[in-house]
Amino acid sequence: MTYKIKVMNKIAPEGLKLLEKGFETGDLDNPQAILVRSAKVQTSEYSELLAVARAGVGVNNVSVAEATEKGVCVFNTPGANANAVAELVFSTLGYGVRNIGASVDYVKGLMDEESDEAISKLVEANKSNFKGSELAGKTLCVIGLGKIGVLVSNYGVHHGMKVKAFDPYPSVANVHYLDSRVSIESNLMEAITDAEVVSVHVPLIEQTKNLIGEEEIAQAKTGCVLINFARDGIYNDDAVENGLNSGKVSRFISDFPKKRFISNDRAICLPHLGASTAESEENCAVMACEQMKNYLNLGNIVNSVNFPPLEVPVQRTTKNRNMIAQITQVIGEAGVNIQSFGNESNGTIGYNIIDTDADVPQDVLDSIQALENVVRVRLIAF
Ligand SMILES: NC(=O)c1ccc[n+]([C@@H]2O[C@H](COP(=O)([O-])OP(=O)(O)OC[C@H]3O[C@@H](n4cnc5c(N)ncnc54)[C@H](O)[C@@H]3O)[C@@H](O)[C@H]2O)c1
Repeated sequence: MTYKIKVMNKIAPEGLKLLEKGFETGDLDNPQAILVRSAKVQTSEYSELLAVARAGVGVNNVSVAEATEKGVCVFNTPGANANAVAELVFSTLGYGVRNIGASVDYVKGLMDEESDEAISKLVEANKSNFKGSELAGKTLCVIGLGKIGVLVSNYGVHHGMKVKAFDPYPSVANVHYLDSRVSIESNLMEAITDAEVVSVHVPLIEQTKNLIGEEEIAQAKTGCVLINFARDGIYNDDAVENGLNSGKVSRFISDFPKKRFISNDRAICLPHLGASTAESEENCAVMACEQMKNYLNLGNIVNSVNFPPLEVPVQRTTKNRNMIAQITQVIGEAGVNIQSFGNESNGTIGYNIIDTDADVPQDVLDSIQALENVVRVRLIAF
């Protein structure tokens, strides 16, 4: 079968290349799948839809609840743009603490001087106006230890900073990559206390709206730098503006420009550039297309935001001797409910993990053991 995939935004060609065989891609009607970056996707508008893949992390532009009701699997690409964001945190931080913007503007203003000697004289006389500060030895507070927060923490350590981090639900998979010199604090206030730089890397959800307000900023060091490459709404704007005006906050670096900050000399606003690198766009496209292909061709689910993960390797040559049906029949007849069933075979021997929602009586275990071809049964009780 040739699947029709509607491509709703510009998707990097390295990704689309993966869909050249067995797929029709373009601005198609009645698609079975949609590839998207920022366009709005109302899944109910497509009657044959099986899947949506977003080349990016947030899925606010996709009607996920509606998709789940109709059995449409929605994918995203976690981590594919993490390095792009983490590098920009340090580029802009360096830009801010070394007064690069004002220095470059000053030098541009010397264009009409008579000679290079005259420029050199002025530069030496005025350079102290742009004196900055260094990152090494300073305290960096990272809020959120996801894909981006872990990288920012590690890059902070590599810049010689003392790094304190907080995340109420850190995932083992992410923390595994965290530099052991990062101190994980048990609450936000501890993490932010005496911080000279604060960088947030959490999603915008009800619990993170206005996460950093007056009280939190008060805990940080006077002259601190606040950074927002996460989402607008995580910092309380009034608190940040008060901090900038009082001098408590020396810089506010934000990827989400707003009038009150654009007009403030102490703020550095970017046009939502966090993930805008060629590498990041390519990573996201490749990941989204691979996941889509894997799902349409094999049914496997990796990085779905609304379906559980499940991958089953293709085993055309391996026979499992109908063991799944036989084992589930024994358990089902005993009235025990199976919560999940994992089954793998390497061609020589099969292995199952069966999770039940109640104790499994010994006679059921004996009946499974008595089935032809069952080698061993083991009960793992919690
Ligand atoms: N500026 C950009 O262009 C850009 C690009 C990519 C991502 N982002 C933003 O960055 C955010 C982080 O991205 P990621 O890939 O690291 O996501 P992620 O899902 O890997 O990590 C988010 C982390 O935040 C933690 N968290 C949730 N609530 C928290 C709270 N109250 N306090 C502290 N931690 C909390 C979670 O436990 C998780 O570990 C995204 O949600 C997105 O909004 C922005």
